[in-house]
Amino acid sequence: MGDVQPKSAQTVTEARVLPKTPYKDQDPREIAALVHALDEAVKLKKRSQFSAKKSRFSVKDSPQGIHVDSWKFNDWDYKRRDLPTYARGLFTSKNKYGEHEIAVRGYDKFFNTNEVRETEWGNIEERTRGPYELTLKENGCIIFISALADDTLVVCSKHSTGAREDVELSHSSAGEKRIESQLAKIGKTKEDLARDLRARNATAVAELCDDEFEEHILAYGPDKAGLYLHGINLNLPEFRTYPSELVQDFARHWGFHETELKVIDTIAEVRQFLESVAETGAHDGRDVEGFVIRCQMSPKPDSIPYSDWFFKYKFEEPYLMYRQWRECTKALISGKPARYKKHIAITEQYLLYARKRIAADPKLARDYNKNHGIIQLRNEFLEFKNLNGSDAANFELQHGRGGDAEVTKDVILVPIATIGCGKTTIAAALGKLLGYGHIQNDNITGTKRPPRFTRMLLDELETHPAVIADRNNAQRHERKQLLQDVKQLHLSAKLVALNFVHDDISAIRKVAHERVFARGDNHQTIHAKSESGKVIGIMEGFLGRYEPLDLSRAPDEGFDSVVDLDPTDGSRVNVEKIVRHLHQVYPGLVKEIPSAEAMDAATEAAIGSYTPAIRHSVVDRGKATQKSSHLVLQPKAVKKKPLEYIAVHVNAKSITAQLQRTFDKLSPEKSRFYMQLQQTRRIQPAFHVTLMHRMAAKEHPELWARYLKLQTDAEAAAADEAEKVSGPVDPTPELGQVDVQLERVVYDGRLMALVVRLVDKDNSDNTSEKWTCVNKISHITVGTRDSNVKPKESNDLLARWLREGSTDANGIYDVVIDGKPLLAGSVQGVLSR
Ligand code: GTP
Ligand code: MG
Repeated sequence: MGDVQPKSAQTVTEARVLPKTPYKDQDPREIAALVHALDEAVKLKKRSQFSAKKSRFSVKDSPQGIHVDSWKFNDWDYKRRDLPTYARGLFTSKNKYGEHEIAVRGYDKFFNTNEVRETEWGNIEERTRGPYELTLKENGCIIFISALADDTLVVCSKHSTGAREDVELSHSSAGEKRIESQLAKIGKTKEDLARDLRARNATAVAELCDDEFEEHILAYGPDKAGLYLHGINLNLPEFRTYPSELVQDFARHWGFHETELKVIDTIAEVRQFLESVAETGAHDGRDVEGFVIRCQMSPKPDSIPYSDWFFKYKFEEPYLMYRQWRECTKALISGKPARYKKHIAITEQYLLYARKRIAADPKLARDYNKNHGIIQLRNEFLEFKNLNGSDAANFELQHGRGGDAEVTKDVILVPIATIGCGKTTIAAALGKLLGYGHIQNDNITGTKRPPRFTRMLLDELETHPAVIADRNNAQRHERKQLLQDVKQLHLSAKLVALNFVHDDISAIRKVAHERVFARGDNHQTIHAKSESGKVIGIMEGFLGRYEPLDLSRAPDEGFDSVVDLDPTDGSRVNVEKIVRHLHQVYPGLVKEIPSAEAMDAATEAAIGSYTPAIRHSVVDRGKATQKSSHLVLQPKAVKKKPLEYIAVHVNAKSITAQLQRTFDKLSPEKSRFYMQLQQTRRIQPAFHVTLMHRMAAKEHPELWARYLKLQTDAEAAAADEAEKVSGPVDPTPELGQVDVQLERVVYDGRLMALVVRLVDKDNSDNTSEKWTCVNKISHITVGTRDSNVKPKESNDLLARWLREGSTDANGIYDVVIDGKPLLAGSVQGVLSR
């Protein structure tokens, strides 16, 4: 369908020659397909899919009782390529024929320069064409104005419309009030405006800026307050928007404030202009947040037509500093600690000033909490210091003191990542380079892992200046847990986010797959070699659940500092980024940046300890053992740790099945303790017979030497095997096999153990000679009453049972396992943790 003139566009009748007004009707079939796709996205909630949230609103003025549905996507989903529309702010409704139509259409989501591939400067320069229309990034809340099929004017904020119960005045209601008074001033009604918008099949997009209603960062006193019109979009799935000249014209006609506009012809000039304004952060004597640049873009200018396209350019300072001041002031007022990471010296001075002013004037605090007087307090301070905004923001540069020099320890590095980003590699490299600790969530098994993880991190800080919290922390709730728990237990600890930015998911997926499949089974939980299908599923799960860092709100605002990392970069690059960042923010922690060679070596060693190439270091166990445990990588590196004990592992399901069968037949009295263990989840998740612990090496030196040799040989064999197939090294090689015969279960009110006999496979009636158990009675600990009762106390219980038997007086029970079944056992060395 070609462009036609709108049915009653009132602005085109004016004398000046204006650009042709864009127009296109909605195609009911196309909109029906769109709504269908959106509904599916709401229902499916598939990880691999984008997800949409739908909310229904009634429109109070609509005589026909028309309602609108708002559709909301996750911010990060806009970076996908398969959305049915990229509108940020989208409402649909139905017309009188019951056909779906787009009621309200926001802009296509647009990004900051360098935030996505398309907005990298090189691409902007190649793929866009002018004229470039620059508008100030206005700084209030966005308001959409459009018309329903019955010519009702509908006024919305980004995702809702109408009154809300939880606030005095919702954004959309505030916008609507503004519209009413603005139209009254020019003698027009909402119906007039509705008819015009309906005829255009368009949504008017404006910024509500009003310090009376809600003060943002930039000042809008009474004379400047109002609705600043900045766009008119056609109500279509694809993005089509009016040229700014027509927008300005519409604004004048309907009593909107005009958004300041600067038109520049070439991209080179645009860039030059933006970069010059960025130096001061102010434009025309006013502090600004940034610019929105409207132009046209084609992904392939030779073959694909240009379409409307926006990007933004945000200024860092002094805007960010002002925002920080505002947040700190609010913290101050509510008696919470003010947190700030940048502009430390000047912010301290500002807060000192603010503290005094607030103490002297309680009304100031009350007003401030309602977002009033923020700018005034700030300006008073700047005046008092005789500084302007950009001087204040540059204060550090001029006066030194870039970071928080007092921090010398207690720093926790928290990755925000998915599988295969290189967390463990980087942690190992930092360990080698800077002596940092390393706690791997993957090494923690059993219940209540999160609090144990936190506890282990804090313990690690006792002996290391910093520690890496090696866990994906891909979801906000995980970050919340960690931040909260840490701050509760250790107030002065600093949490630094290692932010593996996920903007190009397919590139990340590719790199992560390559790495994880090269790693094979050499991981605690991700066994890419033997369970490849499952592993892909797990990896996709993490990618799907990944929630990007959002410093503007809880929980992520709790981070003390952030390093952005690209997961597709090699770990060497990321190690250096982290080190440089830490040196800058905590110069007392990283006093100087290690040499490039040292960083090379540390990263190479970290990567290499997974690969067969440098595997000799495994056999050469002496050197690598014992040293600080954080230096080494899991799980291969575990082998560099000393042998803790030799055990026969038995399949857990077979054991629990035998126990269940036994206790099912017993009286309630006799089975009570078993029930208790079950209900309190105190039955071991895995079962083994300990043959010998290294503590017994003095008593049985020859046996220990024999077991040690078996272990070393098995490791060497596993390494050779891996080299042969260029695959990963089996981290727990089997030393041999032996059958385990279950004889009886012995227990009191504290713990339960199975008395077993080890039987050689080929010599089935005799107790094994090869696999000697040094305990008086070989056994499997089934479970203990609570964590205060240690499994090794089984030896004491069984010794008592052997002496006294089972009597009413000693409270020991002893039940024979029916049929004395034989279970297959695998002998393995267990290394110290
Ligand atoms: P999970 O624990 O599975 O979540 O992964 P992770 O984030 O801890 O990643 P890990 O450090 O285990 O890295 C994955 C694999 O990639 C390992 O086999 C690493 O040795 C390898 N690897 C990490 N960084 C690099 C790198 O810079 N280059 C190459 N070639 N391999 C790397
Ligand atoms: Mg890992």
